[in-house]
Amino acid sequence: MKTFNEPILVTRPYLPSLEMYKSKLAEVWANQWLTNNGPVVRRFATRLAEVLDVAEARTSLFVNGTLALEIVYQALGLDTPGAEVITTPFTFVATSHALRRVGATPVFADVDLDTLCMTPESAEKLITEKTKAIVPVHVYGHPCDLDGFERLAKKYDLRLIYDAAHAFGVKVNGKSIADYGDASMFSFHSTKLFHSIEGGLLTFRKPELKAALERLKNFAIRSETECDNIGTNAKMNELAALMGECCLDVLPELISHRKAIYDTYAEVFEGQDNVRLLPRPEKMYGYEITHNYAYVPVLFKDFETRERVYETLKQYNIFTRRYFYPLLSDFEPYRTTTGATPIARQAADCVLSLPSYHGLDLADVRDVAKNILESVK
Ligand SMILES: Cc1ncc(COP(=O)(O)O)c(C=O)c1O
Repeated sequence: MKTFNEPILVTRPYLPSLEMYKSKLAEVWANQWLTNNGPVVRRFATRLAEVLDVAEARTSLFVNGTLALEIVYQALGLDTPGAEVITTPFTFVATSHALRRVGATPVFADVDLDTLCMTPESAEKLITEKTKAIVPVHVYGHPCDLDGFERLAKKYDLRLIYDAAHAFGVKVNGKSIADYGDASMFSFHSTKLFHSIEGGLLTFRKPELKAALERLKNFAIRSETECDNIGTNAKMNELAALMGECCLDVLPELISHRKAIYDTYAEVFEGQDNVRLLPRPEKMYGYEITHNYAYVPVLFKDFETRERVYETLKQYNIFTRRYFYPLLSDFEPYRTTTGATPIARQAADCVLSLPSYHGLDLADVRDVAKNILESVK
């Protein structure tokens, strides 16, 4: 097994050259405008709308993805007392924390083993008269069954909000994944494929929603003398937007390097039945998918094997992540939340996210993969 001199981390943020970022800062200094919907944030918003192919009137930028979720939940009425929302326990805590913070109760449905995304079938079984919305997650950027969820939302008159934190740049039938459901949230956290240090973007179906979202992220201030709701402070600042623009400039390169990393792992793991790389099919649910290859999740045969591999790799200076483990329903605030989810549990017990980031050498990827094969024996 190869020991790495420098640690191989599960991820590292993409950073533009210092000179480039510094030269761009001159604009901010000249404007003397740091936050509150400044010119760089506005330009970044326009560029994002173009890249995602969504009218800018159906987008809103935020300081991070968690507050974006919280605000869209509030704007779509999930803060009504007793509201239940069907979502997945196989996600990052933010998906459900944001629900709880607006007063809604998450109810956990199960996922499928190919995508680790919640399924419409599992969600449908949990719908009651208290259900107000469905919040599926495009886990690791893999699209959910979009048509299935659309049908479900229509049939029961439910709001449909996608946690698309991982799915920036993903397309379905050539159309941006941002254009599904009532709303989608993209996270621009530094650990993501595409980032703005911290940041988040909402895309939504109805442009009428924009004014409410813009107000809620700015304390719900309506005018100098009016404030008519409980808003918060969730505005993106100019320096974050500048970083976002630097990353946007190289988005195709960011995605193609992640794809090269994914393909390298796939090559080494081919034909091995004790490590299952989650597939990235070009066709699924009847549609064509353009993936972003943001993550490299693999499944082992059981919990003990996963734990052994995770610990062994550390000894060789390789740091993978048990992403997502534990299941949300095992965290203290969610323990009483109903819903049996055996497949999500199996996924949480057996999954590892492997190192993947811009600048990671493909020869190193090959060695990491070989170490995994050795440690799984
Ligand atoms: C699935 C998922 N949802 C929500 C979030 C929250 O996004 P942010 O960190 O931008 O607040 C993250 C990641 O951080 C995530 O992975």
